[in-house]
Amino acid sequence: MKFDAICNTITSERLLLILFQPSDTAAVTHLCNNYNIYKNTLYLPFPYSEEDALAWIANHLDNYNTDKSYEFAITDRRTGELYGAIALTNNHHFNHGEMAFWIGEQYWGNGYATEASKAMLTFAFTVKQLHKVFARHFHTNQASGKVIQNLGMTKEGVLREHVQKENQYLDLVYYGMLQHEFTGNCKVWRNL
Ligand SMILES: CC(C)(COP(=O)(O)OP(=O)(O)OC[C@H]1O[C@@H](n2cnc3c(N)ncnc32)[C@H](O)[C@@H]1OP(=O)(O)O)[C@@H](O)C(=O)NCCC(=O)NCCS
Repeated sequence: MKFDAICNTITSERLLLILFQPSDTAAVTHLCNNYNIYKNTLYLPFPYSEEDALAWIANHLDNYNTDKSYEFAITDRRTGELYGAIALTNNHHFNHGEMAFWIGEQYWGNGYATEASKAMLTFAFTVKQLHKVFARHFHTNQASGKVIQNLGMTKEGVLREHVQKENQYLDLVYYGMLQHEFTGNCKVWRNL
């Protein structure tokens, strides 16, 4: 992982994580207007409109500059094609943050979420010096669970029927990683 503090980009083997621009609105709408993304995420609306995308992107730069959260487009490092998004919040009070992501359905299964998450975790612990990063997923979302487990995060618990989606109460599964665990356990992939 390489962080460019001038361009505010993160580079990994195949990917460039870069701040969204209003010009990404159509591409974001195309990927996010998808029931299978909606049903696995907490807050994304469905159907998803261009207004939703614009309103979402509008806050990114302020959030980034004030260190509230870092929302990156996951793009192809060579072609610039948009694959998805990854976000990290930064809670200064506790020095921890939550990582979350989505990948456009046509790009699933290529390891993009895994690669982007590894780069983002590295950014969180080495650039932002967070003490802890956590992630959570619906118990029904096996793919997200697999991505999080592959990072080496520790399962910390299940909040039973904690949220409601489409008239069903769903469990939320929580995972976390501490700074020293990142330094100690993630040697294999840390240099991506
Ligand atoms: C979850 C998501 C981000 C994964 O993106 P991706 O780029 O396809 O993920 P990767 O290719 O990096 O890895 C997927 C892993 O899940 C596994 N997987 C995929 N579908 C699975 C399923 N139905 N059950 C179990 N494992 C599954 C893959 O085998 C892979 O694990 P492996 O590397 O050990 O083989 C993508 O499916 C998505 O955007 N879903 C909708 C939004 C979402 O769920 N966001 C996360 C909210 S917590």
